[in-house]
Amino acid sequence: VLSASDKTNVKSVFSKAGSQVDDLLGEALERMFTTYPQTKTYFPHFDLHHGSAQIKAHGKKVGAALVEACNHIDDIAGALSKLSDLHAQKLRVDPVNFKLLGQCFLVVVAIHFPSVLTPEVHASLDKFLCAVSAVLTAKYR
Ligand code: HEM
Repeated sequence: VLSASDKTNVKSVFSKAGSQVDDLLGEALERMFTTYPQTKTYFPHFDLHHGSAQIKAHGKKVGAALVEACNHIDDIAGALSKLSDLHAQKLRVDPVNFKLLGQCFLVVVAIHFPSVLTPEVHASLDKFLCAVSAVLTAKYR
């Protein structure tokens, strides 16, 4: 459960990142595909090379979803309901992969905003990403 200070911490990360969120997610996706190549199996139709326009475009979508979740942090399930249907009914991404993307996103935030990612903020952001993942994998069965 996200505490009041978790929510404040998460909101501070997204407000610091601002419009850079898209790029951060693009970088996190690229890092995920390189570090955990098994994740590439879900994207056989994508160009996954460095600098791919498709990865950038996908980063923009995932970033927007995270911003949406942050803006509705008390009702993430409601905010991401359609995405939850999509990931459960159509994409069927194995839930372990959400942890991998979350880890990569944390690393990318650490690289670009080292002073923002105190241990407390790291913990809050991790909890938030886990909450988002739980929503996206909630309707699998
Ligand atoms: C599509 C969000 C995790 C695989 C999408 C879309 C969004 C999204 C916004 C686009 C939906 C649309 O076009 O209407 C997220 C979020 C995640 C997450 C917020 C976790 C924080 C993952 C993971 C994988 C994955 C871990 C697999 C490793 C896919 C695939 C598509 C997709 C294959 C369809 C891509 C396409 O054909 O355009 N996701 N996703 N997602 N996601 Fe996720």
